[in-house]
Amino acid sequence: MPADRGIDEAAAVLRAGGLVAFPTETVYGLGANALDARAAARIFEAKARPSFDPLISHLADAADLTALVGAVPPAVAALAERFWPGPLTLIVDRPAAIPPIVTSGLETMAVRVPDEPAARALIAAAGVPVAAPSANRFGQLSPTRAEHVVAGLGAAVDVVLDGGPTRCGIESTIVDARGDRLVVLRLGALPVEALVEAVGPVDVRLGSSGQPVAPGTLAAHYAPRTPLRLGAADERDGGRRGFLAFREPPAEGDWAAVEVLSPDGDLTAAAARLFDALHRLDAAGVTEIVAEPVPDEGIGRAVNDRLRRAAATWH
Ligand code: TXA
Ligand code: MG
Repeated sequence: MPADRGIDEAAAVLRAGGLVAFPTETVYGLGANALDARAAARIFEAKARPSFDPLISHLADAADLTALVGAVPPAVAALAERFWPGPLTLIVDRPAAIPPIVTSGLETMAVRVPDEPAARALIAAAGVPVAAPSANRFGQLSPTRAEHVVAGLGAAVDVVLDGGPTRCGIESTIVDARGDRLVVLRLGALPVEALVEAVGPVDVRLGSSGQPVAPGTLAAHYAPRTPLRLGAADERDGGRRGFLAFREPPAEGDWAAVEVLSPDGDLTAAAARLFDALHRLDAAGVTEIVAEPVPDEGIGRAVNDRLRRAAATWH
């Protein structure tokens, strides 16, 4: 795989039907031209992603939304106006220009404008909406650094744009604002509290099994290769174990590797480090990772959601 190339060259690769991994403020995305069914199919192939799991389309600018999908419900327009560019994904009706493979056959589509200059420059230069899931193999840890993408997807990607570590570190919040009441489908980098402050009460409806509302919200997801369990530090000794701590290293127990998310107890900083810390624990050669939940408020809810789903893979 070629090393980092310029934005214009990456945009040309997108237009030609290729795959470009690029940084967003949340996690790295694996992008393809969202108007091109064959290009979108390559995303599913590269990620070994099941065809029932729809993609998010990314736009360079909020003004591009109506150009693509026409008029949207007032609440959708208001949220786009308030939170874009930013880590909020909105559900709208799928326009005819977007091939069904992008939405896994749904008549709705997920769309957002990332708050990351390189991402917006890339999408603008490509001149097309860019379908992009997180740039990891299906079910595995999301990438927050270009190195994670290269290690996970390697030659399946045509270009990787390296923008350094991502700022939020956790995926966008997904909201369906088409009905009377706003429904959060995936907890993410935009805290529920920020939505409530902007628009009043919201419902949180997170799928967990069967046919999930937002299919990426499968009960088991975001998993390291090492078995992970939620819990506190203990003195049980069971070989080489790793510990993921919120504020401080565990006082007891014998740990082969320890990652502290935020010594200051800052949830935003903890979210930004979450996947990177899990990637490191995964590489530390431990037989089990014990992860301590963080306070369940603000972006901490999305962190705990990711930890629960990672643990569910292994129970
Ligand atoms: O922060 C993010 O959202 C990152 C960056 C790259 O933008 N992308 C991301 O994509 O997290 P992905 O594929 O890992 O998660 C996309 C999820 C799907 O799994 C599904 O749950 C939801 O978005 N989704 C997509 N289209 C949908 C639709 N029409 N209705 C409901 N949920 C949808
Ligand atoms: Mg993902």
